[in-house]
Amino acid sequence: MNAAETSGKTESGEFDDLPDDTPVDSSVVYPSYKSFDEFIDVTRLRSLDGYLTQKIKRRMQSQEDLKFYTGPYKLNGDVPDRPGSRMIYLAYSEKPDSYFDLDRTELWHPTVHAAEFSLLMDFIKTLPFAATGRMLIMYDNVARQVPAHRDHIETELCHEFLWFRTNIKKPFFMLNQKTGEKKYVEGYSAWFDSVNQFHGSDAYDGLSFSIRVDGKFTDEFRDSIPKPEFNLASTPSYWAALEG
Ligand SMILES: [Fe+2]
Repeated sequence: MNAAETSGKTESGEFDDLPDDTPVDSSVVYPSYKSFDEFIDVTRLRSLDGYLTQKIKRRMQSQEDLKFYTGPYKLNGDVPDRPGSRMIYLAYSEKPDSYFDLDRTELWHPTVHAAEFSLLMDFIKTLPFAATGRMLIMYDNVARQVPAHRDHIETELCHEFLWFRTNIKKPFFMLNQKTGEKKYVEGYSAWFDSVNQFHGSDAYDGLSFSIRVDGKFTDEFRDSIPKPEFNLASTPSYWAALEG
């Protein structure tokens, strides 16, 4: 594996024993992702950059954030899997943390941080979700990579989510674990296959952050998405391949 350290564990905590050559539709190519920049208000998203940067920096300086770093989230099980990278949960689940509840939108409710990041929450309402589940900001101010990993190993499970950002600083990539080829996200948003390929981030010297919202797409939006006949987890890459 060149350039990227890969993790033997998935983000959901399962041991990654999925083979590297999972069957997918012959049109699918890895690494790949589907940009949502054409479906979202990128101008409005970019306009939130100063706001988010300032809010995150303020949190980093506050007493509250020292606590945040050292783990009150253990109380409800929200233990970050990635040492180093920090998370601000905008929604919390009623149930003990389970990766497979990310999109059970009825379980998730806004945290106090949602009020603090109200302009971001207003933007999230404009995304093509009928309902939202887990929502979090991932940030780091230290040059530290996020090791390449998969989120889970269920090839017939396709999570509906959007990864997005207000600036393009974070060197976030998809990785073909067979060839070692990386593809960096170029724009402001991505929906990606988090099972049949790996993803991670190179170190960035300075504050970098991104947001991930899981939920249920609107029926209208979902109906517009081309789906492969098998390996539903590959849907974002199948879609990307169709657009060549
Ligand atoms: Fe992940």
